[in-house]
Amino acid sequence: MKLPIYLDYNSTTPVDKRVLEKMLPYFSEHFGNSSSRSHLFGWTAQEAVENARCQVANLINAETKEIVFTSGATEANNLTIKGLFENNYPNKKHIITVETEHKAVLDVCIHLSTLGAEITYLKPDSTGMISVKQVERAINSETFLISVMYANNEIGTIQPIKEIGELARKHHILFHTDATQAVGKIEVDVQKNNIDLLSLSGHKLHGPKGIGALFIRKTSKASKLIAQMDGGKHERGFRSGTLNVTGIVGLGEACELANTELIADYQRLTILRDTLENGIIKNISNIKINGNIENRLPNLTNISFEGIDGENLLMSLRDIAVSSGSACTSASVEPSYVLKAIGLSDDLAYASIRFSLGKYTTKEEIDFTISYVKQVVDMLR
Ligand SMILES: Cc1ncc(COP(=O)(O)O)c(C=O)c1O
Repeated sequence: MKLPIYLDYNSTTPVDKRVLEKMLPYFSEHFGNSSSRSHLFGWTAQEAVENARCQVANLINAETKEIVFTSGATEANNLTIKGLFENNYPNKKHIITVETEHKAVLDVCIHLSTLGAEITYLKPDSTGMISVKQVERAINSETFLISVMYANNEIGTIQPIKEIGELARKHHILFHTDATQAVGKIEVDVQKNNIDLLSLSGHKLHGPKGIGALFIRKTSKASKLIAQMDGGKHERGFRSGTLNVTGIVGLGEACELANTELIADYQRLTILRDTLENGIIKNISNIKINGNIENRLPNLTNISFEGIDGENLLMSLRDIAVSSGSACTSASVEPSYVLKAIGLSDDLAYASIRFSLGKYTTKEEIDFTISYVKQVVDMLR
C-alpha cells in the first residue's frame, strides 16, 4: 500500500488508463481540426467528436444533438445561467438556487445580481436538503430559472431532482442541475427527471481535466440561451472555439465506462464507505456525520470531530489525502459555507473531513484509514 492514500475523488479523479489509451492517437496521429470539412484529417476528428457526443448523451439518456462540449462544469454553469439571463432580461429576472451550490453557480448569480437579476437562495435543512415546497414558495411571475445541484460536492446530499423538475415544468420555468458530482456515480436520466439543462465535468469521472458538457433540451426554451463565447459558431453556435478533440474523446470514453460499470462501482463504493464510516463511529467518540444519510452519494462521508482544532487536524493527517471543512480563499482560511449553511459552528466546520472514495480505493486502504484517523484524533484530543 502506497502512502499517502488518495481519498479526495470528489476533488478530482485519475484518468482511467483505458480512457488515456483512446485519447492518445488524437494528439499526434489523428490531430485534425473537427471543423475542417474538406479532408480526411478533419473528418476523422469529427467522427471521433460525434462518437463521444453519443457516449455522453447515452449516459444521461439525452439525444446527441442536445450535448454541447465545454471546458468543464464551471463553463457549463456560466453558459446556462448567463445565457438564459441574457435571453430573459428584462422581461423576467428571477432565479431560484440554493445556498449550498458550488461557487460556479453562486458566483455567477452574484455577478448577475449586479446586472439586475434577482436571486433567491434557498436554505437547506440540517442534512443539506431542500424541499419542493420551498422551491414552489419562491416562484414568482418573473422566475425564469431554477438551478439546483444534483448532489453536493462536500456532503453528498442528493436533492429531490425529479420532483423539482416536475414543479418547474408545471410552472413553465426552466430547470438546470449541476450534476458534476452525480454523473458517473449514480443513475442520472434527464428524461425521467424533467431536466432542461445539465452540467457535467470529465475530471470527476476518470476523464481528463478541462473538458465537460452541457445538456440543453432541444424542445424547451433552454435552446434559446445566448452563447457566452462568440466566434466560429462551433457547437451549433452555443460555444465557439476549436473543439478539444482529445479531451472530448476522453470524456466520451469515461462516460461509456461509467455507463457499464456504474452499478458495480456503486455497490462496491457503498460497502467501502460504510465500512469506513462505521469504523470511525465505533472507534472515535464525539463525531458527527454530515449530510443526508438516506439520500447521498455512495462514495462519500463527511465527518466532524468535536473538540479538535481544524488546522491541527488537517496538518496531522499527512498519510491520507482528504479535504477539510475549510476553503482557502486568497486572503484567509474560511470555514466551509456548505457546512455553515447546514448549521455547523465555525469550529465544527473547521474540524470536519470529507472522505471521498473512488474506483481505485481498496479495503486495505480503508482499514488503514480507520486506525490512522483514530490515532491522530486521540493524539490531538
Ligand atoms: C458540484 C460542482 N460543480 C462544478 C464544479 C466545477 O467543475 P470544473 O472543474 O469542471 O469546472 C465542481 C468541481 O469542483 C463541482 O464539484
